[in-house]
Amino acid sequence: MDKLKPIGIFDSGIGGLTVVKTLIEKLPQESFIYFGDTAHLPYGDKTRDQLFGYAYSIIDFMRKKHVKAIIVACGTHSAVTLPSITEEYDFPILGVVKAGAKSAARLTRNGKIGVIATQATVNSLAYTKNIKEINCHLDIYEVACPRFVPLIEAGRLEGEETRKAVEEYISPLLRRNIDTLVLGCTHYPFLTPVIREFIGDKIILVDPAWETVEEMKDILKGQDLLSDSGILPEHKFYVSGDDSSFYEVGKRLIGDVIDRVERINLD
Ligand code: DGL
Repeated sequence: MDKLKPIGIFDSGIGGLTVVKTLIEKLPQESFIYFGDTAHLPYGDKTRDQLFGYAYSIIDFMRKKHVKAIIVACGTHSAVTLPSITEEYDFPILGVVKAGAKSAARLTRNGKIGVIATQATVNSLAYTKNIKEINCHLDIYEVACPRFVPLIEAGRLEGEETRKAVEEYISPLLRRNIDTLVLGCTHYPFLTPVIREFIGDKIILVDPAWETVEEMKDILKGQDLLSDSGILPEHKFYVSGDDSSFYEVGKRLIGDVIDRVERINLD
């Protein structure tokens, strides 16, 4: 039955687990296959050609696993590769950028939105374009934060170095008087406590995962693909490179949902 097929989810590493967490909360009956492309981490400094190569091999892997839909739980792929590849497949493929843009445009009150993301995402200006499409009067300020992903993958979610990086990257946005900050890389919600401590409680933090999972729910519902059986869902985790930090840091976020991580080579 198509309804029982899994949803495919991928990212460079543990970032997409922030989307998994929301998926489990909102759609607990869904099975999924997660792929963390840890052999090619970080994605943020890769070229367009490299990113397209990774996207095609991961999506082909997921197609062979008979997924019913894919969530690109990665800001970088959602910004750079996704706009050109969705049409090539006969199942829904959804990213996080449009969802994040939609939430930010809806939530801002003073019209000044900050976006923190990887270098590749910032270079693509995908957030600026998507937010402007919704409301061209909004001001968007994007900042690349290349030190965040290595810190998060190493499990350094707090401490002096992490706090300094947060201060350095976000200070210029505070000077712009933003009232809304988009976590434009799926790794960044791991830093929410440190970011919140630095920015205070007045600024709205947007984690695109929430709106993305809502959109996936609507798509599956529209195609009569929502899993509605009483059968326990299955969750499988694959990585292409190092699996120990994925397992350890990932467990801190989503606990026992990760019981085993399998290493596979897609090259
Ligand atoms: N978590 C991904 C993103 O949302 C990839 C980050 C990276 O590997 O640089 O952009």
